[in-house]
Amino acid sequence: VKRITTTGLQSMKVRGEKIAMLTCYDYTMATLLDAAGTDVLLVGDSASNVMAGHETTLPITLDQMIYHAQCVSRGAKRAMVLVDMPFGSYQSDSAIALASAVRIMKETGAHAVKLEGGEEVLESILKITKAGIPVMGHLGLTPQSIHQFGSYGLQGKGEEAAEKLIKEALMLQEAGCFGLVVEKIPAALAAKVSAALQIPTIGIGAGVNCDGQVLVMQDMLGMNNEFKPKFLRKYADLAEEITRATSAYVQDVKQAQFPSAEESY
Ligand code: KIV
Ligand code: NA
Repeated sequence: VKRITTTGLQSMKVRGEKIAMLTCYDYTMATLLDAAGTDVLLVGDSASNVMAGHETTLPITLDQMIYHAQCVSRGAKRAMVLVDMPFGSYQSDSAIALASAVRIMKETGAHAVKLEGGEEVLESILKITKAGIPVMGHLGLTPQSIHQFGSYGLQGKGEEAAEKLIKEALMLQEAGCFGLVVEKIPAALAAKVSAALQIPTIGIGAGVNCDGQVLVMQDMLGMNNEFKPKFLRKYADLAEEITRATSAYVQDVKQAQFPSAEESY
């Protein structure tokens, strides 16, 4: 199988073929999502929430992200493996940012990194891309800044915020980013950004006119009944299925219905 590359994503945008991205944090799911045709597996720092049970993405460490990325890389044959740089691994200065990105690339077999922010992380992006490491940007709702935002609400509202976002998107493209995630912004603004950029945009809560879409795998598969924002479409109800299967197993064990003679040696 031919691997999805940064240039492959670029030509998908030119052809008008939408890019399908999902988050992924482990080997088994990587094999399944990859075989089902997902173009990009994002080892998101949302692992902090959905894998580790933290309230925010802030606590996850670079070592923990590297572990998840190693697991996903072993399972992905066709998909690009893209790894989030965690909070604290790139913000302070560009030399530290480069060192963090180099660790991810050296130790995981991933193909690219993603980091949050605009003008304030431009120098880091320049340094990382100059080292030959593909970088995806991330604007709009950037969860690592949750304590500054105060809520996970819609971003890019109003003319001033919209203009700032478009300006920063162009800066990120100029700095060498191969793509851009836009999170929770008005669909009209995401359409405008997507048209203004040569590089592909990947939306989450950003309408259909992005060049691709991304969802958190557990949300898309319906593994978490509490989380149901407007932008989410659930393609399965795995919470129900897993609960049903687990209850049936527990009941069989309690009633000595498992294992049967055929399942015994
Ligand atoms: O960490 C994550 O899951 C993300 C996506 C939602 C874009 O960054
Ligand atoms: Na993320």
